[in-house]
Amino acid sequence: MRIVMTGSGYVGLVSGACLADFGHEVVCVDKDERKIALLQSGGVPIYEPGLADLIARNVEAGRLTFTMDLAGSVPQADVVFIAVGTPARRGDGHADLSYVYDAAREIASSLNGFTVIVTKSTVPVGTGDEVERIIRETNPQAQFAVASNPEFLREGAAIQDFKRPDRIVVGIEDERARPVMEEVYRPLYLNQAPLMFTGRRTSELIKYAANAFLAMKVTYINEVAELCERVGADVQQVARGIGLDNRIGSKFLHAGPGYGGSCFPKDTLALVKTAEDSGAPIRLIETTVAINESRKRAMARKVIAACNGMVRGKTVAVLGLTFKPNTDDMRDAPSLSIIQALQDAGACIRAYDPEGMEAARPMLRDVTFASGPYEAAEGAAAVVIVTEWDALRALDLPRLKGVMQGNVLVDLRNIYRPDVAEAAGFIYDSVGRGMPPIVEPLEQAAE
Ligand code: UDX
Repeated sequence: MRIVMTGSGYVGLVSGACLADFGHEVVCVDKDERKIALLQSGGVPIYEPGLADLIARNVEAGRLTFTMDLAGSVPQADVVFIAVGTPARRGDGHADLSYVYDAAREIASSLNGFTVIVTKSTVPVGTGDEVERIIRETNPQAQFAVASNPEFLREGAAIQDFKRPDRIVVGIEDERARPVMEEVYRPLYLNQAPLMFTGRRTSELIKYAANAFLAMKVTYINEVAELCERVGADVQQVARGIGLDNRIGSKFLHAGPGYGGSCFPKDTLALVKTAEDSGAPIRLIETTVAINESRKRAMARKVIAACNGMVRGKTVAVLGLTFKPNTDDMRDAPSLSIIQALQDAGACIRAYDPEGMEAARPMLRDVTFASGPYEAAEGAAAVVIVTEWDALRALDLPRLKGVMQGNVLVDLRNIYRPDVAEAAGFIYDSVGRGMPPIVEPLEQAAE
């Protein structure tokens, strides 16, 4: 198959490289001149484990190329994916579809022979209909079908997720698209990944419904964590205890500082808007969004409380800035709100992240960046772990304590054991690991 991937961001680049690895001939297109120049010269604009090798291997084999010339690439293609960004629109939270529609217009004018245009970007229900209308209007002679094929890959595990998905969802309204999409994904369903065909609107909704459900699951365990702290229970054991029930499942039950990233925050908001506009509001997700927002600042209050209610003039070291490990993505990272709230309370911030500092720099004002966790902790009153990078899981706690001025360690991902941290001299706090109340033995109480 000859495939054009419009948009070489996270989803486009990973999907393009993986499809090339399946043996397809793939052209990745982007409007960003610097990005394409970098890719053409053997560089990779994002950090994603394994991606650089995968790209190099397929470029070498002649199956993967990069260009800015969308119009010149489309005529040869059997399938044109649209994987451009759909950021939340400023002001109203709706997904901004202008990049998708611009791409559709440009693709339309250079179609040649029957072509399947596939939206891979996360788009609200009905976008496929609009893409189809735009193409028909721009090029009434065009022979084409518009399909929806949402992508479920996670950053940090993107290649593995793309190659071993739980399912592939393809929404079509025109049967001619079915054999083409079957051919695109043939190597995957040989791997036994279910290839599920639905209507186009259903497929579009599946993506939002899945992400919103996962965001709700994380938010649920975060609220349970809060309760655990009050009643002296352990959220990790609660999560295990409920997750072993197959109907619930153990994944996405790690309590933390709130979800972030390029998908959950914008997709939950977009679903809320679509549901509201359609007269079928989804209150559970409206509440999820509100709880997650307030949770991030609540995490800063937790740090302040651990510092005896005062951080003014004190240094707080923040370890882990990205929204999750193994990515350099800072979009909607909880660290941004937590740092702002700590600064509002008068703290000076020193920060460290293994991969995210370059992206973080322009987003964080008045923050000192350190080249390692111990350097970040120098002279600090408190250390806060926001993201569970492997490199932060096995810190030498006595050494960390040794370089600090204070002794507070707030672990927002529960990666340390309270007894070990306390033995190293820390006043340690984490999420959802409440201390059971001390109950006096009966005979003593009777005395
Ligand atoms: C998500 C979806 O998982 C993926 O299917 C979709 O295609 C894109 O959005 P991603 O944004 O890469 O992927 O991150 P994910 O690993 O899902 O984590 C999202 C956020 O939830 C992170 O901030 C993470 O720290 C948080 N999270 C996740 C938790 O706090 N606890 C959990 O148990 C799981």
